[in-house]
Amino acid sequence: MSQPSRSRVQPVHSPHPGLAPWLDRVVCADCLELLEQLPDESIDLIFADPPYNLQLAQTLIRPDSSVVDACDDEWDQFESFAAYDQFTRAWLSACRRVLKDSGTLWVIGSYHNIFRVGAALQDLGYWVLNDVVWVKANPMPNFRGVRFTNAHETLIWCKKSATAKGYVFNYHDMKAANGGKQMRSDWYFPLCNGGERLRDEDGAKLHPTQKPLGLIDRVIAAASRPGQVVLDPFAGVGTTAVAALRRGRHFVAVEREPGYVAAALQRLEAESDGQLPLFAYGT
Ligand SMILES: C[S@@+](CC[C@H](N)C(=O)[O-])C[C@H]1O[C@@H](n2cnc3c(N)ncnc32)[C@H](O)[C@@H]1O
Repeated sequence: MSQPSRSRVQPVHSPHPGLAPWLDRVVCADCLELLEQLPDESIDLIFADPPYNLQLAQTLIRPDSSVVDACDDEWDQFESFAAYDQFTRAWLSACRRVLKDSGTLWVIGSYHNIFRVGAALQDLGYWVLNDVVWVKANPMPNFRGVRFTNAHETLIWCKKSATAKGYVFNYHDMKAANGGKQMRSDWYFPLCNGGERLRDEDGAKLHPTQKPLGLIDRVIAAASRPGQVVLDPFAGVGTTAVAALRRGRHFVAVEREPGYVAAALQRLEAESDGQLPLFAYGT
């Protein structure tokens, strides 16, 4: 599916007036605190890429003795499964309050966390529409040869409840993007690499888990309309915000780490020729 390069679509929806302070902004905050401030039923689509709780017990080493740049950051650490579950239920509950009845939520995760997230979703009343497998065209090998190559992540797509009506699924657009055949639930995208991958002056990745733009673009293209509002509570370096901007959707992006917020703002400024009144607040 070809992605638009810039926002060319005129918005046809009026976002909730109570969203104004955060609309088309990257907010530097803890998402639980920010979500508390958003009005009830004000968001059309949520894309969440939460901490995975990877629990890496040891450094990963390649056969050539180089160290794998895995995600061992503080933001991905939880002291127990119970602590992770508590956090998961808190943000999923907060998201459900701000989601419109016609809205949907997507969560991406790996085998480390997605089953726990799935159980929490169902316990909280969300209704699963699909799970989609992101098949990685270029996965990292299992260097020690003790397991299968881990070549996919899972996205869960759900609506607010079993009886919720009116959610957006742009069926015909998806079919057209798939050569005239129904879009399937296995999506093939390479890992985020090359020119798309944000790097510092030394060539190191700016963010350990930056997602491919194409993947999030498909989510937004499938499940929202121009002018609607997309919320990302774990925005990282702003991939969802960029995809939303290119598709003519509004966004509310929340990220706790100031360094990632700065990178997201720089990326968005380049996208929008400085037209967006972007700002960040908090610490
Ligand atoms: C898996 S990464 C998201 C990457 C993002 N999808 C991208 O493409 O750049 C999760 C992000 O959530 C942030 N985070 C973790 N806990 C948070 C919280 N309570 N509130 C806001 N952001 C949080 C982390 O700093 C990290 O950048």
